Amino acid sequence: MNTIAEHHLFWQGDSPLTCIERIEETPDAATFVLYSPSGAFFHFLPGQFISVGATIDGKAHWRAYSISSSPTRPETLSITVRRVTGGLVSNWLLDHVRPGHELPALAPAGDFSLQAADVPANLALFSAGCGITPMMSMTRWLLETRAATDIHFFHSARSEDEFIFRDELLALAAQNVNLKLHLFLTRPQGRIPCHHGRLDASRLQSLLPDRHGTRAYLCGQEGYMDDVSGWLRDAGVSEEAIHRENFQAACVAVAEDAERFSLHVPDFGRTAEIAAGELLLDVLEREGLPIIGACRTGVCGSCKCKVIDGEVESTSTVPLTPEEVAAGYVLACSGTVKGDVALAIG
Ligand SMILES: Cc1cc2nc3c(=O)[nH]c(=O)nc-3n(C[C@H](O)[C@H](O)[C@H](O)COP(=O)(O)OP(=O)(O)OC[C@H]3O[C@@H](n4cnc5c(N)ncnc54)[C@H](O)[C@@H]3O)c2cc1C
Ligand code: FES
Repeated sequence: MNTIAEHHLFWQGDSPLTCIERIEETPDAATFVLYSPSGAFFHFLPGQFISVGATIDGKAHWRAYSISSSPTRPETLSITVRRVTGGLVSNWLLDHVRPGHELPALAPAGDFSLQAADVPANLALFSAGCGITPMMSMTRWLLETRAATDIHFFHSARSEDEFIFRDELLALAAQNVNLKLHLFLTRPQGRIPCHHGRLDASRLQSLLPDRHGTRAYLCGQEGYMDDVSGWLRDAGVSEEAIHRENFQAACVAVAEDAERFSLHVPDFGRTAEIAAGELLLDVLEREGLPIIGACRTGVCGSCKCKVIDGEVESTSTVPLTPEEVAAGYVLACSGTVKGDVALAIG
């Protein structure tokens, strides 16, 4: 029988995935277990995400979802989606995707992850709400591979009912001495032991020993991650040891009197107006040009474009190689202009 390492046929986003199981995690979140009909296995690092496409009213929309399953189970890959009020794709997925449904998807990506050769002895995971998904993949993987690490898992939720992966995490914490679960519920229903209210600096300091050698991973709302980062730095954790995953794109407001420039896409014979400070991706999408903006936070690389003329200011080049940056590639979701520009898409 072939080992996983000998199994060369890894899925690389080249074909759609099929949902084979749907697990209701909470009243507003579900896990979709996906497999590749080609039989290809999945190769990813715990903490990475895939981008998933949904065709709604004839238009394709892409969103990023962290993988919640462990790489130790490479035959399938799971994502866990929570409803966002008024959100287009999260509601569509939860309302439509059942076993048998086919979903277009892009290959695993992202550097918010753990590597087998670099597992720290002290790990602190901080998540709030559905920010728990990459932490779950890391935790499952660390425990299944029996990694020699102490995991302090801080999770914040409103109540027991909204605590995604509740039963599995409680069971894992009961079975594994190296997993310390610190649960914070703002509206506890009294069914499980937890800290009442929100995490704060003094609770963090008293619950997290050996802070100097700790590596921390954070995922939740921007304000939550800002708070936790500050408390960790105050407690002696170095900046380089603090890793953050942002699920929500920053909202870019363009001033009405902002200067206007032209955005030219010669391959499609199109020229559009772009305001100073406006994201290239917003203009390309408004023009109906074929660009995928999956994560909108500068981490997946799906919106990669090449600057043919002019200059683009970038807030992220994370998924681009140094060679791509040198060749003029930029991310449309992270790029703005201060003059006319010409781009090639893809
Ligand atoms: C790397 C990465 C990993 C992610 N992993 C997961 C995951 O594991 N599970 C998951 O459920 N989501 C995850 N997301 C978020 C996901 O990609 C979508 O943004 C989310 O499902 C909302 O999409 P939507 O189309 O429903 O909302 P949209 O129609 O895009 O947005 C509707 C409104 O909701 C706001 N909004 C968008 N996202 C959020 C949010 N997360 N919280 C609060 N308000 C929001 C928008 O600003 C907008 O006002 C991840 C995002 C990234 C970048
Ligand atoms: S949309 Fe993901 S990097 Fe731009």
